[in-house]
Amino acid sequence: MIQPPDYIKAIQPYVPGKPMEELERELGIQNSIKLASNENPLGPSPEALKAIQKSFSDINRYPDGAGYYLKKALSRALSVSEDELILGNGSNELLDIAVRTYMKEGDEAVMASPSFVVYAISVQAAGGRAIQVPLRNFIHDLAAMAEAVTPKTRMMFIANPNNPTGTINTREEFDRLMEKVPDDILVVVDEAYYEYVTNPDYADSLKHFRSGKNVLILRTFSKIYGLAGLRIGYGIAKQDILADMNRLREPFNTNSIAQRAALAALSDEAHVTASRKTNETGKSRLYRELEELGTCFVPTEANFIYMQVEDSASVNQKLLSMGVIVRPMGPKAIRVTIGLPEENRRFIEAFKAALVN
Ligand SMILES: Cc1ncc(COP(=O)(O)O)c(C=O)c1O
Repeated sequence: MIQPPDYIKAIQPYVPGKPMEELERELGIQNSIKLASNENPLGPSPEALKAIQKSFSDINRYPDGAGYYLKKALSRALSVSEDELILGNGSNELLDIAVRTYMKEGDEAVMASPSFVVYAISVQAAGGRAIQVPLRNFIHDLAAMAEAVTPKTRMMFIANPNNPTGTINTREEFDRLMEKVPDDILVVVDEAYYEYVTNPDYADSLKHFRSGKNVLILRTFSKIYGLAGLRIGYGIAKQDILADMNRLREPFNTNSIAQRAALAALSDEAHVTASRKTNETGKSRLYRELEELGTCFVPTEANFIYMQVEDSASVNQKLLSMGVIVRPMGPKAIRVTIGLPEENRRFIEAFKAALVN
């Protein structure tokens, strides 16, 4: 029998949020709501939808592998050169390419725990060791992460804001980390929820990129831009880093519809503003309700809230039976995406019922 290497066998596969159709099929119900994958509840940018409709007719052609127009627009928006940008099939693909580019069997990557689980999966898939440093007060402990660096460390992952806790690292904490990290390590700063952050002390990763540090900043069109299903994200890094990563990037890794939709979404400021506002309003409402219920939650800078419960498996099952899909996080916490007002209301009602039953 053919067998993969032991380090592949040891990987715990990623468990995505349950799709609504699946739950409805299983329970024979309708009108379920999904607050499990940090998607934009307002839907995609209407400008992106128009661009998508115009893109159908030439899908017999391969996409522009270089993503010329999207990179040009990003370059203008971010004041970085087009050569300092890389597009990915979701930002997820880019973090995986970075791991495959820089890590070999036995190398180490430092990351926080809990954080986005794909970091550890990618590192293990490359035969590397994921060195997991516990969060401190639900926040990346950057001082401890710097201490965890050894001669075998090749990469460090920082989710800012963090998934699942929604917390950020400040400018000062990040600056201090960057002073300590040796220059043969790539620091991946995953800013999937960047556009939701309102805290003025939020770390400025671009500043470190501009000063020539080994950082790979990852952002995505999956969250505030509402294009998760199209799979498109981007990375910002020095040209030499991207030249190495481009050796492994598939020639047509982002599709033509996604590129055009992302280009349109990028300039749809009204949609971004409305999405941010929906999130802020939902956040205040959920905070109020959770406080009333006496539920411990972590204040968030993203579009989801991490909250503590007695028994997450049982709460999750009860919520599912009421058609509400959230994400259990370990035995004593759940992560709930901030939804539309009606979705937030339904979550709170179901959550109250789940807590008393
Ligand atoms: C922290 C973090 N990074 C990356 C991703 C992946 O996003 P994408 O859809 O761009 O691959 C997610 C998705 O949930 C995330 O939470």
